[in-house]
Amino acid sequence: MKVYLNGNFVDDSEACISIFDRGFMFGDGVYEVIPVYGGRLFRLSQHLLRLRHSLQAIGLSLDLDDEQITDIFTALLNGRTGDASIYLQVSRGAAPRNHSFPDGPTPTVLAYAQDLVYPDEALRSSGVGAVTFPDQRWQRCDIKSVSLLANVLARQYAAEHDAMEAILLRDGYVTEGAASTLFMVSEGVVVTTPNGHAILPGITRELIVELARDNGMALREAEIQEQELHAADELWLASSTKEVLPVTRLNGHDVADGCPGEVYQRITRLYDEFKRRFRDGQLA
Ligand code: PDD
Repeated sequence: MKVYLNGNFVDDSEACISIFDRGFMFGDGVYEVIPVYGGRLFRLSQHLLRLRHSLQAIGLSLDLDDEQITDIFTALLNGRTGDASIYLQVSRGAAPRNHSFPDGPTPTVLAYAQDLVYPDEALRSSGVGAVTFPDQRWQRCDIKSVSLLANVLARQYAAEHDAMEAILLRDGYVTEGAASTLFMVSEGVVVTTPNGHAILPGITRELIVELARDNGMALREAEIQEQELHAADELWLASSTKEVLPVTRLNGHDVADGCPGEVYQRITRLYDEFKRRFRDGQLA
């Protein structure tokens, strides 16, 4: 597979970075995952804006403007017309190991395209299992940082407990999934945690909020207590690669009647329709 690394397109087997790269040594870097539908980059400007937010938050300047980044993505897609995803990672580059920033770092920029592997259709109709897990991450989860150890451990706990996702709890409140945004439906109202330092401002989250509001669905951005989670009528997970998935088992118990709910059916139809129009070129 061809990857982009620091200005060159090379085979992944030939792509080399220094053992002193700060992304490797300290997890000192940020990333983005951008879905591609019908060969078109989905919600690209939102992803680029979030990338800029992450870079700015870690004090890293990148010598590539949005147009240059887009050109890299386009080259990686190499005329693909199907669905894919782009992974982009920017680290603070290589420097002798020292926690504080090196002077004038040269960021390491890596990007590649890969097929988008959708969750099985069967999972959308049966729903997935989730488990609750303590949110052991840091205080700036709004930064899409490659330091993902706490997320990795949470996901591994989920995998070992026959669940697709870990729903993270901090001080008795839900933050989000280990790699997804959480939505709850309670008495017909869709609820999701407000953006802030405790969660990643999900691009899928933003679209779901937009679709719900444009279609007259009741939606509230509010803190979700752990007890509310267990009493929810519906739970969904959302991310660029999962899209929207219903959670029908939580900690081994059925969520409501154990089937994907009506509100989920509605949002997923709206999401699929939006995607179809984007893929067909009807939406920018
Ligand atoms: N993760 N919250 C966390 C902690 C995430 O890692 C992700 C996505 C999301 C959803 O964000 P978005 O809708 O922008 O994908 C929320 C990506 C897909 C990943 O790490 O692979």
